[in-house]
Amino acid sequence: MEALEQKILSEGTVLDGGILKVGSFLNQQLDVDFLIKMGEEVKRIYEGERITKILTIEASGIAVAVAVASVMHKNVVFAKKNKTSNLSGELFSAKVHSFTHGTDYTVTVPKDYLSKDDRVLIIDDFLANGNALNGLIDIVNQAGAKVVGCTCAVEKGFQGGGDELRKAGYRVESLAVIEKMSAECIEFRR
Ligand code: G4P
Repeated sequence: MEALEQKILSEGTVLDGGILKVGSFLNQQLDVDFLIKMGEEVKRIYEGERITKILTIEASGIAVAVAVASVMHKNVVFAKKNKTSNLSGELFSAKVHSFTHGTDYTVTVPKDYLSKDDRVLIIDDFLANGNALNGLIDIVNQAGAKVVGCTCAVEKGFQGGGDELRKAGYRVESLAVIEKMSAECIEFRR
């Protein structure tokens, strides 16, 4: 998405450790009009696909997912992150390793909110190693539902998580894919 690439170039900052800071519109302050434009782009990408639900993960995924959902008129379910894995049987759960934070956490979704009839679009803000998306896919599979596709606003292509999912057969359509980045320069995949 050309407008997103331009916004990353004009407002993004590359931090040490391969982190892109986009707090001015995506991760801290939310540029709602722009988020809605991203939602419209996601709707265009999945035109013709039947989608019944949007699934994301707290916290930053929620804003993007709500923007997509408001354009597609579907409900959003968000997975919660729990520190403990001591869970009741009323929840789907999956373990996720955070590469950025070096910790493991468990993501949970109440069984009431996903069923085998659902066709799910997974949305998140960032796709790096793909661990969060893999956890969400695991939860959709536990529900017996279908993953229609996975879309993140920003994919850090150089971390390989998106390509692994594509190889595994999932439709992964990120709105901007960064191939290379440094403090001086950000290059997008063409
Ligand atoms: P992965 O899921 O793709 O494997 O990524 P990873 O574990 O490394 O990501 C952990 C967290 O860091 C996620 O949010 C993810 O969205 C975020 N993240 C990863 N790379 C970047 C980046 O370059 N820039 C920014 N701004 N965020 C990045 P989280 O810690 O779970 O936080 P939140 O969603 O609660 O805000």
